[in-house]
Amino acid sequence: MSRSGKDPHERLKSGKNRSVSSSRWLQRQLNDPYVKQAKADGYRSRAAYKLVELDDRFAVLRGAKRVVDLGIAPGGWSQVMRQRIPQARIVGIDLLPTQAIEGVVILEMDFMDDAAPGLISAELGGAPDLVLSDMAANTVGHKQTDHLRTMGLVEAAADFAIQTLAPKGSFVAKVLAGGTDAALLALLKQHFTTIKHAKPPASRKDSSEWYLIAQGFKGGR
Ligand SMILES: C[S@@+](CC[C@H](N)C(=O)[O-])C[C@H]1O[C@@H](n2cnc3c(N)ncnc32)[C@H](O)[C@@H]1O
Repeated sequence: MSRSGKDPHERLKSGKNRSVSSSRWLQRQLNDPYVKQAKADGYRSRAAYKLVELDDRFAVLRGAKRVVDLGIAPGGWSQVMRQRIPQARIVGIDLLPTQAIEGVVILEMDFMDDAAPGLISAELGGAPDLVLSDMAANTVGHKQTDHLRTMGLVEAAADFAIQTLAPKGSFVAKVLAGGTDAALLALLKQHFTTIKHAKPPASRKDSSEWYLIAQGFKGGR
C-alpha cells in the first residue's frame, strides 16, 4: 500500500481518466483464465463457459430443436449452441446490438416490450423446447432496486417459458443469490418435474448470480 492508502499496482493501471472500479475490472479481465480461454476458443464472452458447464452437468442442450436465448448479446451462449446443437433453430433477443451469428435469428429489442414474446414465437415457428435467460438488469447501485429489476426479468422469462414450452422442455435462467423467490419457485414446481440451482465454476465467486435449471416441463398451461 502507498501512503495514500491505495494499492500502487491499481494506481499504475488507473491512468488519468480511468476510474478505480473500471481499472479493477480491467485488471480482473487481464488475469481471468476464462477471458483468455474465450479468446483462444473464439467465443465473444467468458459467459460462454457458464453454458458449457451447465450443459456438461445437466445436459440442458441435449436434443433441443428450438431454443430461445434471452439476453443474447454479445452472443457467447448462442455460439456454444451452434457447436453443440447445430440443427437447432435459435432465436435470441437483446436490448443491445449483437453481431450476426450464422444460423441464429437475433431481435434487437426489449424483452419486456409487449410485442417481444409474439415476435420470438413467430421466428421460432413452433414451441421451444429450451428457454434460456442470461438477462441481467443494468445496475443502478441501489441493492434492492437492482435485485427487484433482475428478478422482474426472471419472472417475465419464466412466464414466457410456461406459456410457450413444448412438453418435457427446459428453462434455464440467471437468478440472484438467495435463489428464486418463493412465489416463483412454487409456480415453477407446478410446471416442471425437477428444479435445481447451480453456480457454474465460470460464474465469478464474488458475483451473486446463480442459475436456475428447471427441467421436464409438464405442459398444460
Ligand atoms: C450477461 S449478458 C448475456 C451474455 C450472453 N449470455 C453471452 O453468452 O454472451 C446479459 C444481457 O441481457 C441483456 N438484457 C438485459 N435486460 C434485457 C431486456 N429487458 N431485454 C433484452 N435483453 C436484456 C443485456 O443487454 C445484456 O446484453
